[in-house]
Amino acid sequence: MKLLKLSLGLLAIVIMISSCSYDNKETLYPQDPGCDTINVSYAEDIQTIFDNNCTMCHSGATPPGGFSLEDYASAVVTAKSGRLMGAIKHQSGYLAMPQGANKLDDCSINKIEAWIKLSYPDN
Ligand code: HEC
Repeated sequence: MKLLKLSLGLLAIVIMISSCSYDNKETLYPQDPGCDTINVSYAEDIQTIFDNNCTMCHSGATPPGGFSLEDYASAVVTAKSGRLMGAIKHQSGYLAMPQGANKLDDCSINKIEAWIKLSYPDN
């Protein structure tokens, strides 16, 4: 009986320790620790991603699909169309973007998603 209590006690401690360290990790690093999705800047983060991967096609007078990513105003219109996240996440029902190139890295996708969720900060 004593032995059973002891092993139950040990088991409880092991469970507590393992769930505790799991919680801490989740709170400290909700996402990739190297990817800042809190202080997302349109000028520094978002437009750079678009310039490097998208505006060679999505700019000018007749951008593909009517989706321009040339500047802040057009990027907001494209984001609000509801087609942007599905396209860069390669979800079914969307054309995979950037067309003819590799999928964006996770951090870039997370930053764009955060920018949309934060209601398009224009800093
Ligand atoms: C090589 C040229 C090219 C590049 C680079 C490119 N696109 Fe596209 N994009 C297209 C074409 C062509 C279409 C289809 C337009 C149409 O419907 O006629 C398209 C469509 C889209 C659509 C609509 C998708 C849908 O399913 O409705 C979105 C959103 C989009 N692009 C965003 C992006 C983003 C964001 C990038 C950069 C990460 C990017 N594109 C890079 C050519 C490109």
